[in-house]
Amino acid sequence: MTKKKIRFAIIGCGLMGREFASAAARWCHMTADIPAPEIVGVSDLNPNARQWFCDNFDTVKYSTADYTELLDKEDIDAVYCAVPHNLHEKIYIDIINAGKHLLGEKPFGIDAEANHAIMDAIKAHPEVIVRCSSEFPYYPACQKLIEWIREGKFGKIIEVRSAFCHSSDMDTQKPINWKRTLSINGEYGCMGDLGIHTEHVPFRMGWKPLNVFAKLSNIVTERPDGKGNVVPCETWDNAILLCDVKDVDGSIFPMMYETKRLSPGSTNEWRLEVYGLEASAKFSTNDPGAFCYTQSLGKEQAWCRVNVGYKPMIPTITGGIFEFGFTDSILQMWGAFMCELSGIEIPFGCVTPEETELSHKLQTAALLSNKTGRLVTIE
Ligand SMILES: NC(=O)c1ccc[n+]([C@@H]2O[C@H](COP(=O)([O-])OP(=O)(O)OC[C@H]3O[C@@H](n4cnc5c(N)ncnc54)[C@H](O)[C@@H]3O)[C@@H](O)[C@H]2O)c1
Repeated sequence: MTKKKIRFAIIGCGLMGREFASAAARWCHMTADIPAPEIVGVSDLNPNARQWFCDNFDTVKYSTADYTELLDKEDIDAVYCAVPHNLHEKIYIDIINAGKHLLGEKPFGIDAEANHAIMDAIKAHPEVIVRCSSEFPYYPACQKLIEWIREGKFGKIIEVRSAFCHSSDMDTQKPINWKRTLSINGEYGCMGDLGIHTEHVPFRMGWKPLNVFAKLSNIVTERPDGKGNVVPCETWDNAILLCDVKDVDGSIFPMMYETKRLSPGSTNEWRLEVYGLEASAKFSTNDPGAFCYTQSLGKEQAWCRVNVGYKPMIPTITGGIFEFGFTDSILQMWGAFMCELSGIEIPFGCVTPEETELSHKLQTAALLSNKTGRLVTIE
């Protein structure tokens, strides 16, 4: 069976642009009948970055430094845009105004104002399908946790913790790059980079933050620039956000969001923990196959660990006993986006524009809270 194709351009041919292309190249991995992305055009200011796509994909017809050249092409239906944060507003709006579907990257605008402008373009183009990338919820063990939340297995929720922690910046000699500069990465710092990853599941579960008390840290204040100088590193390294969250039934519980670039021992640790009166459960990419949950033994609770195996949301050729990893979660996320583009129903979709709007409200309020030392209400 030949799968239907949706023709894509990639704007921003860096780390994430290549991940998408690699997922597109193994579309045969998925057994479900989902339209396949075909990479037709690539745009990046750096010709070497584009060349990798031209070398590996004979479907690439257009390669250009000027992304606007791709937007009037009739044989491009959709765009994946993975560029630095200061460019999100202009490029996303141009893509949407050109009538192309868009999977954009977080934080979906460098700040709330930029996000607002992107939201206005989306509202003016209801025919265009727009989503934001977030892959970690597609780990099968996390999907299990989502199922438990939806089934109400936790009873009254005591507390929820969601975290995304890196350790790569523990190396204080690591040269600065755009992700550590205010003008390109933005004032949110680590929250802009990692925040939407921690918010996707809680927001989708209807857990709305009512307020936030934030502690932001700039721990490594200068870094080498790679050219023999030391320059200021002004972005927030770590953030701890404490919120009151309103559940869909109106009850309120505390929730902690952690986004950290300086987290000793964490390579790329994404985790979600839900504690309830009837049960508790947690998932971490540190133990990617495991779904951990409590069982009550009389008045005591025991933590149990089940290895979920390779049982993804979208079925694949891989046997259920094998291990699931990062690139599999990227493939599943892309499968989810292609389903959303094609009107195929799925249990858990990509981050919606409205969820990015809430993310900006939370992170903007966190900046104010950190500055004033006060709890800030989220409107
Ligand atoms: N989903 C995830 O897990 C994940 C992981 C890392 C980064 N990201 C996000 O992806 C986006 C890109 O990050 P990255 O790590 O791929 O960065 P990167 O620096 O590796 O790649 C960005 C690319 O954009 C190109 N670029 C810059 N200006 C351009 C322009 N005007 N036109 C076309 N291309 C241009 C750069 O040359 C570069 O190749 C960011 O929004 C980032 O937050 C997401």
